[in-house]
Amino acid sequence: MLVTMKTILKYAEAHHSAIGAFNVTTLEGILGTLEAAEELKQPVILQFAQVHESLIPVSVLGPIMVMLAEQASVPVCVHLDHGEDLDYIKKAMDMGFTSVMYDGSVLDFEKNVANTCMAVEIASAYGVSVEAEIGSMGREEFGSVGAEGEAVASLYTDPDEAKEFVERTGVDALACSFGTVHGLYLTEPKLDFDIISAIREKAQIPVVMHGGSGVSPEDFRRCIQRGVRKINYYTYAAKAGGQAVREQCAAEEDIVYFHDVATWGKEAMKADVREAMKVFASEF
Ligand code: 13P
Repeated sequence: MLVTMKTILKYAEAHHSAIGAFNVTTLEGILGTLEAAEELKQPVILQFAQVHESLIPVSVLGPIMVMLAEQASVPVCVHLDHGEDLDYIKKAMDMGFTSVMYDGSVLDFEKNVANTCMAVEIASAYGVSVEAEIGSMGREEFGSVGAEGEAVASLYTDPDEAKEFVERTGVDALACSFGTVHGLYLTEPKLDFDIISAIREKAQIPVVMHGGSGVSPEDFRRCIQRGVRKINYYTYAAKAGGQAVREQCAAEEDIVYFHDVATWGKEAMKADVREAMKVFASEF
């Protein structure tokens, strides 16, 4: 069943858990994620990042995400990840997405506030939830290593700024920087858990962790304890799919058909997503 981010976040709050938000770039990614969620009976967020438009257009994948979310036996929010312009965000909402992220984190604070307010105004007409971001987590969503490979402390979210931002924009969730980065880590991530607590206390908002791949189960749980309620995750699932295909192709002596490749990839992504969901949920 298709639900908004607000509904999913309420569930996470009540269960003291976080909901996995899995980026999808293929039909196999969508199917693997939904199968994992249905098997574990967990709500899930299926998300598409604007930067992945070069892999597959949202106009192709988006309607499939919405349709399969509607048919799912668990609550599914269909979310636009890192929407960079208001026209693109509107396009996703017209397609039936129930949540959008406006990412103005590269802009100065005032411009980010102004654009986020516009996104919230447009979204409220659709009954759609809005996530925004302050602080910076690196801009790689392609699974590659970010320029510096680790977070830069000076770009961590300032809790006082977060409070002002949330009060002025009225967003439903806030992506914050506290030590995670998108893509693969060169060194083990060192997270600042106190930032999460301070943001929760001052801004009273569900905190979103980006760059979930490579964070240890213990650190995920600590973050959830402090108030992270949505965890964005992509690189490790995509890597697991690629690795499985590589190994199966190498082991295969006969012809390899593309439908086999697609199935191997899907099953491996599903297994990876399933493990992540178990860590994020409170009941496993
Ligand atoms: P990872 O690819 O590092 O898991 O991060 C995904 C993400 O944060 C998408 O917004």
